[in-house]
Amino acid sequence: MKKIITIIVIIFLFTQCKKSTTETNETSKNVGFIADSVMVVSAREEASKIGVAILRKGGKAFDAMIATELALAVAYPFAGNIGGGGFMVYRTNDGKTGALDYREKAPLAASKNMYLDENGNIIEGKSTIGALAVGVPGTVDGLFKVHQKFGSLPFSELIQPAIDLAKKGVIVTGKQAERLAHYKHLFSEVNDTIIVLDHDWKAGDTIKYPKLAQTLERIRDQGRDGFYKGETAEMLLNYVQKLGGIVSKDDLENYEAKWRNAIEFNYKDLKIISMSPPSSGGICIAQIFKAIEPFDIASYGHNSLKSIQLLTEAERRAYADRSYYLGDPDFVKIPIDTLISSNYAKNRMTNFSWDSATPSSTLKHGNIVGYESNETTHYSIVDKYGNSISATTTLNGAYGSKVYVSEGGFFLNSEMDDFSSKPGIPNMFGLIGAKANSIAPEKRMLSSMTPTIVEKDNRFYMSVGSPGGSKIITSVLQTILNVYEFQMGMQDAVNAPRFHHQWLPDVISMEPKGFNTLLINQLQEKGYQIKQENSVILGKVDAILRLPNGKLEGGADFRGDDKAAGF
Ligand code: GLY
Repeated sequence: MKKIITIIVIIFLFTQCKKSTTETNETSKNVGFIADSVMVVSAREEASKIGVAILRKGGKAFDAMIATELALAVAYPFAGNIGGGGFMVYRTNDGKTGALDYREKAPLAASKNMYLDENGNIIEGKSTIGALAVGVPGTVDGLFKVHQKFGSLPFSELIQPAIDLAKKGVIVTGKQAERLAHYKHLFSEVNDTIIVLDHDWKAGDTIKYPKLAQTLERIRDQGRDGFYKGETAEMLLNYVQKLGGIVSKDDLENYEAKWRNAIEFNYKDLKIISMSPPSSGGICIAQIFKAIEPFDIASYGHNSLKSIQLLTEAERRAYADRSYYLGDPDFVKIPIDTLISSNYAKNRMTNFSWDSATPSSTLKHGNIVGYESNETTHYSIVDKYGNSISATTTLNGAYGSKVYVSEGGFFLNSEMDDFSSKPGIPNMFGLIGAKANSIAPEKRMLSSMTPTIVEKDNRFYMSVGSPGGSKIITSVLQTILNVYEFQMGMQDAVNAPRFHHQWLPDVISMEPKGFNTLLINQLQEKGYQIKQENSVILGKVDAILRLPNGKLEGGADFRGDDKAAGF
């Protein structure tokens, strides 16, 4: 009997001990990588380390940006690129801010109805896959613009690590092997040769990119012309035109990245600096922040019924405006000041009710008196001088158009799909566009990329961004709110389950397993439609937070192979 009692006591103590360990783990914080003053967070460890090596040499965040972007073009062909484009937002150590637009442009031969058949219907796949989907690439010109204005180390030193990496090769991760297996059939469908990625790559294999190394060497030796003119340009043009594309010599020679003013606004005591058009990111995120500002969201709790309702309704209204007003600012006039004002947000929220969802079918864009506008990758960098950058770069779809210039070793984007091919018909992200984002020669297609820097007490506070097409904006928004309103550290803020609403389709996308059944039922009772989606497409946030002690905490998204590095 004594023996039995002893066994029962031991079992009881063991289960109690186990329970308390589990509880401790569930409530414990996930603290991200901590560094004293210097950090790079990106989609691949190789790229983060290359960026940090430049900072260690005394380079500035801008130098590290160039090295990191080029390293991603080698290590992360899924979205890193020289055949695509992107946006960068910066804040210098003396508080100056700005933005670089190195977004792709429509080729000169592009036309409004180029993706429609004779009956005016969209031809499936024409804007998303293959040579006609390709916009004029902006990345290489963008990097030279950054170097011209802010570079402190020679360009040749910044590009060399990417050249070396391409020659040495990159180790395939498990997630990368899965992605390659998933897209493999499209590589052979689109290209007329077997491309380097079109093999049964397994985790642990090494992929070398000798042709890409040669292209990068031409860029190192000839500057911008090493891509937009001469041998590389010829390879690109011959191949694209052979596959039926319309990018021309003039398109490449004339491409210019542009410096733009960032979108800046206040949310409570934060100053938020984000990307201006042709990205919708800055305006959209400003509209959502302004719409929720009068509410005490912190008191509702993170991912609570009330928080989700409030954010969903603010998102619904902002995305309805996005589809009507936003496009390339060089082609359309956008009422930016009105769209991001508190008054406008207040008016847009007047028909919001806690009792039930506002059906998107009853909601259009707001009226402005006197108005005459998925795959991507993000990285954040802070240097020891106090400069910070937030950059998002893309090929659009996974591996872009899948057109791979084998001789040059790089993919070309499918950015033309970010235009509205036909008003009212959704693109690959389900986004509906209007006239403001219709196709025209040399126009930039509307984007959702939202590289963002947050300032608090006149000092750098956060650098945040994400891939994820239309879901980028809401991923960035929730990450900032998680830190500022819900008191999370950077890694916890990145890890937290996310949700998304974009006006149309009228559904809340939620990460599976991130939200309990009771909450979902309560939302459904109020008229919200819920769709649980794979976490990969609800953004992959890479962010940096300045902690109260002045150190930096990285938030590298576990949804990918993302990694923070620094010292
Ligand atoms: N290609 C995705 C975006 O620019 O939003």
